[in-house]
Amino acid sequence: MPPVHKAVIPAAGLGTRFLPATKAQSKEMLPIVDKPAIQFAVEEAVRAGLRDILMITGRGKRALEDHFDRSFELEHYLEARGKVDELAEMRRIAEMADIHYLRQGEPRGLGHAVSVAREHVGDSSFAVMLPDDLMHEESRLLEEMLAVHERYGRSVIALKEVPHAEVSLYGCVRPEEVEPGLVRVVDIVEKPAPEDAPSTLAVMGRYVFSPAIFEALEQVTPGKGGEIQLTDAIGLLSKEEEVYGFVFEKGRYDVGNKLDYLRATVELALERPDLGPDFRKFLADVARRERLV
Ligand code: UTP
Repeated sequence: MPPVHKAVIPAAGLGTRFLPATKAQSKEMLPIVDKPAIQFAVEEAVRAGLRDILMITGRGKRALEDHFDRSFELEHYLEARGKVDELAEMRRIAEMADIHYLRQGEPRGLGHAVSVAREHVGDSSFAVMLPDDLMHEESRLLEEMLAVHERYGRSVIALKEVPHAEVSLYGCVRPEEVEPGLVRVVDIVEKPAPEDAPSTLAVMGRYVFSPAIFEALEQVTPGKGGEIQLTDAIGLLSKEEEVYGFVFEKGRYDVGNKLDYLRATVELALERPDLGPDFRKFLADVARRERLV
């Protein structure tokens, strides 16, 4: 199995759950403390050895390109004021990966966004990372999924146990255990009603696909919500060749969801050496005032 080099990051969605913040700016640029959500995804890809990154963007996403580009004006300004740490950080962001951009044109669904990557990806396996699913820096989920892909030569999707009532928010699989923490996907359904869900193992936004996913995507017709669903393509693929599910527990924040966005902000701020101690005191005061403790 040749090693995977490329990651595709679909970022063309409209982010309606974060309106009005996302009316004129991209959801992926919303910061967790001071780092845009999209930067977490790019850093995670680079940590896993994937330096060739294709972002699928759309209208109103210019800031994404600017964020990962050099900004000579800003660099000049920082240099002139001796802000060496900030300057080094700005250069690091612009140089950490080879980032390419393609426009989806119309947001016709996640499956459609992935199909736009076909020419760039070519005939090799690749990762897909949804920036809404922010993984903690200590998580090794993507590396572990890449290792499974290398072992079996097949597609691998990330799965997580969710409460029964929440399965209708996700794609959900019928699993067959291969070994502890690894299943074969027998069936997959997009956002099932809890009573119809085949299990409580939900699909999370990390995937390693064999190029056969593109043929499956070609056959998919609009599904739930009139969108081309990636879940439907995974279902078709699983009838042609094995699709594995890698089960993980920790390290994920769904920053496309307001409550989890706040949780990510609080937890990651607490971990910051520059902010954590003061922020902890502040939270303790709030907790006392609000009689939470
Ligand atoms: P979501 O279903 O979360 O949609 O997309 P969204 O538009 O981003 O957000 P809400 O639900 O309206 O708030 C899941 C992922 O698929 C991408 C999104 O950018 C996100 O990373 N996506 C979705 C596309 O790239 N294109 C699409 O047509 C749809």
